[in-house]
Amino acid sequence: MAAIAFVLATPVGAQQGSRNATTFKGDPVAGKLKAEDERCQECHGHDGNANDIEDGIGNIGKFPRLAGQLPSYLMKQIRDFRSGARHNDSMFIMARSLNDRDAADIFAYFASQKIASEKDGEAPLGRRLYVQGDAARGIPACASCHGEAGQGQQVGDASYPRLAGQHRRYVTKQLAEWRAGERRNSPGGVMNAIARQLSDNDIDQLAAYVAGL
Ligand code: HEC
Ligand code: HEC
Repeated sequence: MAAIAFVLATPVGAQQGSRNATTFKGDPVAGKLKAEDERCQECHGHDGNANDIEDGIGNIGKFPRLAGQLPSYLMKQIRDFRSGARHNDSMFIMARSLNDRDAADIFAYFASQKIASEKDGEAPLGRRLYVQGDAARGIPACASCHGEAGQGQQVGDASYPRLAGQHRRYVTKQLAEWRAGERRNSPGGVMNAIARQLSDNDIDQLAAYVAGL
């Protein structure tokens, strides 16, 4: 758990995303209707699993699963898309027109849905890095923050997202963007520091492992 203490102890710069992601209690029943009205389901799927939603060229996995995800983490992301701390053209437009109250309801709905992942084959290197890290290369165990089973957790103000069952393609893209510094909204830049130690093969294996959890 030393890794968590590191995150909490690190000062958060203004450009690194909003803190204080907690404290909205959403209503899942209202949230289901709002997710339809606000068209979230067109990309994230009816139940938040984005299982059959293609990107226009036949690929699935561009749109992240929101099902089973921590609402506090999703709320932070909406605020970060809105402020520009996290960049994505579609999500900037969506977040700008969505208030925090409606977002809280929508995330309560998605959180109440079961994540429907597919097993993606064995990934022994991914598993080793996830569970143990690699001290010689300065890679901490992902499990120390994201949970043994990849279920995510909330510790004080910090939200560590669920990774278990997330689309492999989406996870690969996020890790590559953390590594390249294109995504910079983690507290204290912790995910950038970690991803810089990962090779393409590490990223591929980690994404395969968590997708199958
Ligand atoms: C036009 C397609 C589209 C629509 C409509 C859309 N999204 Fe997204 N959303 C995306 C994409 C693409 C990403 C991933 C961005 C990336 O790759 O960094 C995303 C990411 C997210 C994330 C971050 C998830 C994570 O794991 O970090 C949240 C939260 C989110 N969307 C919420 C919503 C909500 C709420 C709505 C409805 C108001 C919505 N989205 C509508 C395309 C869309
Ligand atoms: C010290 C704690 C910590 C460790 C260790 C850690 N992470 Fe993270 N990770 C975070 C935090 C905090 C976030 C959320 C950042 C934000 O607010 O946008 C995050 C976000 C992510 C995301 C984005 C999820 C999404 O839905 O967009 C991925 C993917 C990820 N981490 C993968 C990993 C992998 C793989 C490892 C191990 C190599 C790892 N993390 C180790 C703290 C950690």
